[in-house]
Amino acid sequence: MITVFGSLIGDEEIANVTTCMKSQWMGFGKNVEIFENKYKEKFRLNNFAMVDSGSNALFMAVTLLNLPIGSEIILPSFTWVSCAQAVLLAGHKPIFCDVDIATMNITADKIKAHITDKTAAIMVVHYAGLAVEMKPILELGFPVIEDAAHAIDSTYNGQPCGSIGDVGIYSYDAVKNLTVGEGGGITTREKKLIERAKIMRYCGIGKSGFDSALNSAGGKVRWWEYDISEPFIKMLPTNIAASIGIAQLDRIDHLQNRRRQIWDYYQSELSSVTYLIKPSEAKLGDRHSYFTYCIRVPKRDELAHFLLKNEIYSTLRYHPLHLNPLYKQLDVCLQNSEQLNIDALSIPIHPRMSDIEVELVATKIKEFYS
Ligand SMILES: Cc1ncc(COP(=O)(O)O)c(C=O)c1O
Repeated sequence: MITVFGSLIGDEEIANVTTCMKSQWMGFGKNVEIFENKYKEKFRLNNFAMVDSGSNALFMAVTLLNLPIGSEIILPSFTWVSCAQAVLLAGHKPIFCDVDIATMNITADKIKAHITDKTAAIMVVHYAGLAVEMKPILELGFPVIEDAAHAIDSTYNGQPCGSIGDVGIYSYDAVKNLTVGEGGGITTREKKLIERAKIMRYCGIGKSGFDSALNSAGGKVRWWEYDISEPFIKMLPTNIAASIGIAQLDRIDHLQNRRRQIWDYYQSELSSVTYLIKPSEAKLGDRHSYFTYCIRVPKRDELAHFLLKNEIYSTLRYHPLHLNPLYKQLDVCLQNSEQLNIDALSIPIHPRMSDIEVELVATKIKEFYS
């Protein structure tokens, strides 16, 4: 079966994990700091902290904004469920917004229709790795959370996605452009927010007893006593995950090049398929991360089943949240999201795919519509 998403792990990742395990220090530790510094340098971020998942990073991001309980946060319906869960679990109300049909991204104009006197923030998602048009959204004057789970290597007007709004998040789960198995990251415009995030991720405790004992220069008599600055969930990343991430950072350019090759091949090969709408390219000056290749086609369900019969897995990222029973907002009609729910399909793109597999995907799509 050709999978729709995938990562590429090599000998370096395996060696790093082995070294980490042999060191007997598998939980939070030095590797996390090494990963954080390397990641900051690679993606030109000022403030960055690793956490245990992108979903938890979203919850942390919403909490960091200190909004009044019950605030409304506007976000796309066409996104992963964690975006809405983070808003709800932080005590706020998710307000679902439509996306532009061509970019599949939220826009300032679509957001404007949902602004009320309770609106306190906006959450954008750089869908598939294509940068959201951020400038007009920032001009609306609300705090902005950027979900850059798909967009670790993407840029907007030369700036790394995730670093444009107030708080940005990344995901390093098993199928993301950079994987550590399960993991996430958070970046903030203000330094003091990342300092708070680093305390929050350890249940609101600033320093472990071990740290205090080693670094107190003998001044602290009872190093096992600690200050708790606020109640928060434990979101610590592990040394094992960070050791995988360190090796992934060394190969990220190669991984991204492979994704771009596959993307370019599909863009050229699928041009001949009548009625197939290809995904938008990044605008001049921006960079795409090529996380997802999402086409729009007639007879979408039939195509998905045809591909499956031919050992090619495809899927839809995402079933719009406002159509999900938990979040159903009956008064909302989000026409473009509902259209994407009918005709959009993500087809395989990941760095482990061979040329033969990539060609097979394109050939089978062409065969279906011939
Ligand atoms: C848009 C988006 N946001 C957030 C997440 C959550 O990331 P994680 O899987 O690391 O929790 C995902 C995961 O797929 C995602 O696609």
